[in-house]
Amino acid sequence: MQKPVKTATLHYDGKEIVLPVYAGTVGPNVVDIRKLFAEAEVFTFDPGFTSTAACDSSITYIDGDKGELLYRGYPIEQLAAQSNFLEVCNLLLYGELPTAAQTTDFVNRVTRHTMLHEQMQYFFRGFRRDAHPMATMVGVVGAMSAFYHDSTDINDPWQREVAAIRMIAKMPTIAAWAYKYSIGQPFVYPQNHLDYASNFLHMCFAVPCEPYVVSPVLAKAMDRIMMLHADHEQNASTSTVRLAGSSGANPFACIAAGIACLWGPAHGGANQATLEMLREIATVDRIPEFIRRAKDKNDPFRLMGFGHRVYKNFDPRAKVMKESADEVLDLLGVKHNPLLQVAKELERIALEDEYFIEKKLYPNVDFYSGIILEAMGFPTAMFTPIFAVSRTVGWIAQWKEMIADPTQKIGRPRQLYVGPTRRDYVPVEARG
Ligand code: CMC
Repeated sequence: MQKPVKTATLHYDGKEIVLPVYAGTVGPNVVDIRKLFAEAEVFTFDPGFTSTAACDSSITYIDGDKGELLYRGYPIEQLAAQSNFLEVCNLLLYGELPTAAQTTDFVNRVTRHTMLHEQMQYFFRGFRRDAHPMATMVGVVGAMSAFYHDSTDINDPWQREVAAIRMIAKMPTIAAWAYKYSIGQPFVYPQNHLDYASNFLHMCFAVPCEPYVVSPVLAKAMDRIMMLHADHEQNASTSTVRLAGSSGANPFACIAAGIACLWGPAHGGANQATLEMLREIATVDRIPEFIRRAKDKNDPFRLMGFGHRVYKNFDPRAKVMKESADEVLDLLGVKHNPLLQVAKELERIALEDEYFIEKKLYPNVDFYSGIILEAMGFPTAMFTPIFAVSRTVGWIAQWKEMIADPTQKIGRPRQLYVGPTRRDYVPVEARG
């Protein structure tokens, strides 16, 4: 970490504690409280980490007020319009846009790792047919550490690199096979002449009994969805990956932990939940009822796909996603999609409503993605696995950054204990 730019002084219990303040290249400064407990015997209290920077990182930057998202400094809108997913992976992992030769090398390396160890299919077959593909992914990705022993030594930079490439390459195969298994169709092997997104669509939708030609329009839309989800600084699943990795756990175990966290409806599971909500609303005339429920403190219902911990203006990913939804439906020849109509009207009404204005609640990336994915032919249960496929590179880039950081320590938060104080054990016959 660099030199302090200023200090902050805390007066506590008659002591004056001077804390260094550091500045990043952009964004809020941080007060370094690492020595606070040693000097003042007091912890900071921040459940949900709303005011805590857990690490320094040079990968992704979000300005929540401006609605800005940068990957290694490049705005997401420019990347979504001009780049492609594997180039974004390269950028996130290595820090710079690759040269043509670096791109060829990277694409080759990813492409040569797309197959799974043949024995891994027995893991898929061990699950119930109705298993959610996210459940299958958590299990299978965790199991990779049992198959790829030559890439589990986190102290060896080469093994870390191989693990990274393996996961980026194999995640589409794992997600597609989880889907194929759930619908009782044979697994489709990767086709290395296809690009990353096309290969994924092929593994999801091809069957052995007839040819399947991937639509370039859908492949482009899928590639864009992947770029938009590729990283998002220290979100819940990324922090989970970092925390798991801080103990020295192997990379496959860490990414499996990230997948498990992503599944929650407040995080990546929101894309499935959003589409289910839009289906439940079904018609525009029912929107006011759902807006009312979302505002009712006694009703746990929330507008799924709305709100974000960091974005308090708009989510730039949602803007691109909304344009994509229009484009994809248009290109698929869908003249009228009732869910898109409900979504747009819901957005319009919510954004004019005092409650949503005051709380700065805007559509997030998950609001429109489900509409596109459904139009492509994916069932709702596949929405979050597609998020996981896309976010894998972000998790790995952040994990690699953490492991390479010489100041890295095991993540070990403390607590404000509010339970019983010391008391003596009472034998069962003496309990009242
Ligand atoms: N509908 C209605 N009210 C909401 C919503 C919503 N979607 N989101 C937040 N609020 C209200 C909330 O009730 C609270 O009100 P009050 O201050 O009166 O108690 C206030 O806004 C702040 O909410 P919070 O839960 O303290 O905010 P947070 O930063 O902890 O949560 C969030 C952020 C994304 C979990 C939350 O907005 C939410 O649950 N949204 C719906 C789920 C969703 O779409 N998640 C995807 C997030 S983007 C993709 C990703 O991260 O994977």
